[in-house]
Amino acid sequence: MTLREKLRLTEGLSAWKTVPVPEEDLPSLFMSDGPHGLRMQDFTENIFHQGSKPATCFPTAVSTSQSFDTNLLAEIGKAIGEEANEQGADVVLGPGVNIKRNPLCGRNFEYFSEDPYVAGKLAAAFINALQGTGIGGCIKHFACNNQEERRMSSNSAVDERTLREIYLTAFEIAIKESSPSSVMAAYNRVNGTYCPENKMLLTDILRDEWGFDGLVMSDWTAIDNRSESLKAGCDLLMPGCHYYAEKQVAKDVKEGKLKKEVIRRAANRVKAWVRKFGPGGEMSGQRTDSCNYESHNTLAGKAAEQSAVLLKNDDNILPIKPSETVAAFGRMYTKLRYQGAGSSLINPTKLTQICEVIKSDGNPSECDIAVIFTGLPDEYESEGFDRTDLKLPPEDVKLIEETAAVNPNTIVVLFAGGVVETPWIDKVKAVLYMGLPGQAGAEAVKNLLYGYANPCGRLAESWCMEYADVPSADTYGAKNATYKEGIYVGYRYYEKNALTVRFPFGHGLSYTKFEYSDLTVKEDIVTVRVKNTGSRYGGEAVLMYVVAPEDSVVDRPLRELKGFTKVFLEPNAETTVKFNLNPRSFAIWQGKWVIPGGVYKIQIGGKAEELYKQGDVFAPITYTIPVYEDSPKKPGEFTLNDTPDELAAVSLFAKTFCKVTEKILLTKTGGERNNHFEMMYACSVLGPLRATVQSGGISVELAEALVDSANGKIIDSAEHLMDLFVARLKKS
Ligand code: BGC
Repeated sequence: MTLREKLRLTEGLSAWKTVPVPEEDLPSLFMSDGPHGLRMQDFTENIFHQGSKPATCFPTAVSTSQSFDTNLLAEIGKAIGEEANEQGADVVLGPGVNIKRNPLCGRNFEYFSEDPYVAGKLAAAFINALQGTGIGGCIKHFACNNQEERRMSSNSAVDERTLREIYLTAFEIAIKESSPSSVMAAYNRVNGTYCPENKMLLTDILRDEWGFDGLVMSDWTAIDNRSESLKAGCDLLMPGCHYYAEKQVAKDVKEGKLKKEVIRRAANRVKAWVRKFGPGGEMSGQRTDSCNYESHNTLAGKAAEQSAVLLKNDDNILPIKPSETVAAFGRMYTKLRYQGAGSSLINPTKLTQICEVIKSDGNPSECDIAVIFTGLPDEYESEGFDRTDLKLPPEDVKLIEETAAVNPNTIVVLFAGGVVETPWIDKVKAVLYMGLPGQAGAEAVKNLLYGYANPCGRLAESWCMEYADVPSADTYGAKNATYKEGIYVGYRYYEKNALTVRFPFGHGLSYTKFEYSDLTVKEDIVTVRVKNTGSRYGGEAVLMYVVAPEDSVVDRPLRELKGFTKVFLEPNAETTVKFNLNPRSFAIWQGKWVIPGGVYKIQIGGKAEELYKQGDVFAPITYTIPVYEDSPKKPGEFTLNDTPDELAAVSLFAKTFCKVTEKILLTKTGGERNNHFEMMYACSVLGPLRATVQSGGISVELAEALVDSANGKIIDSAEHLMDLFVARLKKS
């Protein structure tokens, strides 16, 4: 292959395919989104992520994380693998393991937890099972992609300890324990450098330290400088754009700034990846072509049941007794919100509404029980933009309060991709949180409310009293995002500061009762007996925390989750649960992993304690977070890496462009400013111009004309427009 052909191989052929090389017998590999089901779609046909082939829509990660059940994640991974085999995908673009740094993040529904251990372990279970069907996994978005606001140009400024202990750990666990076929480099920068150009992340840590030997691809249109990304270790540019890579790379090779060897290395990695996971590849021997969508629908329902969290259940009002009359209503009663939006949007194989499975007996004031099905509407949260607050729609809060005033037995069932403020909680008897429960969510809700299934989920994210309590509340969403809360994310922060939360991490009630006894800690093995002392069959997620020494001279969280397992027991049945400790259960990052000395305690589910000894004392740690300024650019400083709305501050042309783009997008959504509109607006008007060029949204001539106009180069700008005009004329 010539160097040019090799370079071509390191760019996508189209939105979902790699370039085939017939002379080398190298087929084209096909990728499909996404983490909670398949989205087989031709990107160019529909920019609004709609109209993919029907596939099972499993509950999203916000729900499945609450199961704390690696077996369940494995079952889902296997099922998605079977569907990928049947539909012809070779690699599935998931799971996403970014940490829930702040509950406003519009994409939190697609991520597992505020805790890296949970996220890493669940992702590993999913990937192992997916890859067991011969389909490659792609862990994303590496790294620190924790906000949607200006996600294509934002900068996450993080100190090294926080990076290692919080933001990289989930990736590290999943990569070491499941060897995903690929890693997707995120849109944002980390400490000033774009992730796909970040050698420290992509080579020094990922490959050299963790031993990753798969492929690194960019998120879609994430690459700014292709030469730098090749050097850093980003092998595949997606979705592929000749203009960007070829022009830049050819120039850099010519000037000696980019070695040919670097291009060969990337091309070889693409080849190795395709030979392993592509059609006819090494993994195709494991492929299964049978796919039972009916049983996957049943699995989706089981997952929804086992992922729901019973937040409150006063007077054991739930489960509802068959003799009780029920008034059922609310926005989600007839239109269930069962998944998020954006690149993970799935076209479900079937969908039942709650009103089809739970009949309402009429007036809330006359029935024994009133059940309100509420939550966040589609336009409140999505990939591409962040939430503006943590509130439910005001009309829903009003409905809850008015109902509770006329019926003392009011139950709220919540559907949302993350935390919502619940100032009304004392007025209602019970709250069941379903997360986003997937296509079989309605049946699951019915089974849970009537006791055919027993809730067994626990929150994998702390629910604050109000948004102001969140550690990153005052700085979140800035283009330069300074992670000044450091390692104190989620429960690590609330517990350290003794702040009251509405519901803590790990909270979750059941219709039965579990008791723990006989905790033992011998060397690196922890065991505990768990008994179902209630009257119903049920599941219990057993969590193990390592509690830091009380006299720790090192600043660290009070306790951290270092083990979890899920058991299912009949009434009166008991079992022994075992956990393994390892050096990382105690370690912190101080330029390397070290174990500060002292007496550690082991806590199981917050109920029992035991002593554990380890190591010597180390010196305290100081944080160094790099500082970045948000200063507006002046004419002369703009490049294709800037966003149209930034250009619009100095250019009338760019301002008009933003307005016209907004109008065009609105015509595509029938005039509605819905989540599809918001996401595309964020990509085009708030995203860097080079990304819109790479995705085929606008021509490079138009992008350069916009940049030149903002730089005050009016004649150059006009020339680009002329070029564009001539090119169009020739075409027509
Ligand atoms: C998302 C990725 C997704 C890709 C392809 C990007 O915008 O961030 O998660 O896999 O699009 O759809």
